[in-house]
Amino acid sequence: EKGGYDYFMLKEIAEQPKAVSDTLLGRIDGSGSLTLDEVRIPPGVLREVDKVVIVACGTAFHAGLIAKYAIEHWTRIPCEVELASEFRYRDPILDQRTLVVAISQSGETMDTLMALRHAREQGAKVLAICNTNGSTIPRESDAVLYTHAGPEVAVASTKAFLTQLVACYLVALYLGQVRGTKFGDEIRDVVRDLSGVSDAVGRVLETMEPVRELARSLAHKDTVLFLGRHVGYPVALEGALKLKELAYMHAEGFAAGELKHGPIALIEEDLPVVVVVPSPRGRSVLHDKIVSNIQEIRARGARTIVIAEENDEAVAPYADHLIRVPATPTLLQPLVATVPLQVFACELATARGNEVDQPRNLAKSVTVE
Ligand code: M6R
Repeated sequence: EKGGYDYFMLKEIAEQPKAVSDTLLGRIDGSGSLTLDEVRIPPGVLREVDKVVIVACGTAFHAGLIAKYAIEHWTRIPCEVELASEFRYRDPILDQRTLVVAISQSGETMDTLMALRHAREQGAKVLAICNTNGSTIPRESDAVLYTHAGPEVAVASTKAFLTQLVACYLVALYLGQVRGTKFGDEIRDVVRDLSGVSDAVGRVLETMEPVRELARSLAHKDTVLFLGRHVGYPVALEGALKLKELAYMHAEGFAAGELKHGPIALIEEDLPVVVVVPSPRGRSVLHDKIVSNIQEIRARGARTIVIAEENDEAVAPYADHLIRVPATPTLLQPLVATVPLQVFACELATARGNEVDQPRNLAKSVTVE
């Protein structure tokens, strides 16, 4: 059932191109508009929404963090993202005009379930993004958009994460479509870009041998840091989470702009630091800033592992290891930039002799608070 792979995680990483295209399937009509018929929240209600609140845990929370950038950019609706376990206990401000999006692979995560129950009690509408048909979270929500990743067995979430991102982008575009903040042509452009991502992920997967080699060479390290900006910041958090749960290493993700506010004190000779670099096209300010961050940490001895777009020549002189990913629009970059980090963590776990599919102390779905 592992389809010839040593671990479910490897199989699930390899299934990502299909998971991404399956999640888009049937949701775009011939003219490039979105047909999210499953979102049974009436368009009239969606037009009235004045705040989006995303609740989730772990990897699903990281998908939510990325969704915020897309939702606010495309719809101009304020969006908050909160850990489900924190949300309920701080008396959040919610009403009929709040759209709560609960993201969960399993659909059984107790913290997320309790958060959505609380939201509905306050009159908010809840849309679930879920991978498991008929599970509790979608059953208790007003509507559900299923991710079509297929069953995810490995405890470490991979393909579910990518499909959560796709679903979040679809929700953001749909909100833009319903509310008229995004017009047909723009939606079609993004949909076209999204449709190309499946192939791009496939291409990333074909170039992972150097990443595996690098991971093996770092198996004796104690700490790895991850830096990113903009949507690359949650990608850094996700890379660090994967490494913690699989390799049992100290791993932390930072917003690159925060370096000088503290974390740069951690940099020492030969410390591996993974940096997720945004596209040099588009928002080039972001790119330039991160290049100077890379220079700063390298000057202090860090071993820089740089994830950058193909053709991004500016980063090359400062990268001790360069991992190339296909060019994508900035907002979609997490779909390709996360993949090397999954492979990296999986290979490090293997090199350290850890159980890849069943890391110690963890359960696939956390059904207690
Ligand atoms: O099933 P869920 O998406 O609700 O699970 C949420 C987290 O428990 C989950 O993403 C966890 O962080 C994974 N082990 C991450 O790889």
